[in-house]
Amino acid sequence: MNLILMGLPGAGKGTQAEKIVEQYNIPHISTGDMFRAAIKNGTELGLKAKAFMDEGNLVPDEVTVGIVKERLSQDDCSDGFLLDGFPRTVAQASALEEMLASLDRKLDHVIYVQVPEEELFKRLTGRWICPTCGTAYHEVFNPPKENGKCDKDGSDLMQRDDDRPETVEKRLKVNMEQTQPLVDFYSEKGYLRDIDGNREIGNVFADIEDLLKGSRQ
Ligand code: AP5
Ligand code: MG
Ligand code: ZN
Repeated sequence: MNLILMGLPGAGKGTQAEKIVEQYNIPHISTGDMFRAAIKNGTELGLKAKAFMDEGNLVPDEVTVGIVKERLSQDDCSDGFLLDGFPRTVAQASALEEMLASLDRKLDHVIYVQVPEEELFKRLTGRWICPTCGTAYHEVFNPPKENGKCDKDGSDLMQRDDDRPETVEKRLKVNMEQTQPLVDFYSEKGYLRDIDGNREIGNVFADIEDLLKGSRQ
């Protein structure tokens, strides 16, 4: 199963990805998570990415394409993968096509999770994440059992640096500009699968599961 999970910031890519990879046992490849890990570890990649992310801008294509290329060539991707938040530009999508062709692999689906803009703003500004395991919570829509603590490991929850209201607005704008050309790119190739992401987390996942089950028969 070679999958792409596409959607604007806050659409629920990370939330759904966690469920998909558990069910299908494929690696979850989130470029945003990879950049955040690099920043935390103080690597050269992290230094490069940080300035763009803090401003709500995209990291340049050549940097992003480079890390995905390296990641997809690793052994654990040989039976499939779930890309979360990559590609985000048509240039990245074209680079991915070349990568997959050279590995003799094909995409199965591009799952496009759609949520209205005003809802995205609420989701991002109310998000709390676990610094230990990465689980995302929401103070209203998906609260942890104990206030401020991760259900899985009890860590203190944190807000992401780029979830401040002014950065959220910029991220939404930047990503919206890139989305339509990417939607056109994948819909022309017949890969695009629309999912209504403006419902409860479990209902969104049920639709994704139906889509993926159908493709296995
Ligand atoms: P990235 O980390 O990918 O951020 P993003 O695309 O802005 O998306 P998010 O992770 O914020 O949202 P999500 O869709 O995962 O939603 P989540 O499940 O957490 O990228 C960060 C930055 O890295 C980018 O801005 C860019 O600078 C750089 N970058 C990354 N990839 C790049 C690329 N390919 N090219 C260039 N630069 C790149 O859910 C959000 C909230 O909503 C949570 O609180 C959650 O609990 C809640 N929620 C989820 N689902 C629902 C639901 N159904 N109903 C109610 N609430 C829900
Ligand atoms: Mg995410
Ligand atoms: Zn945790």
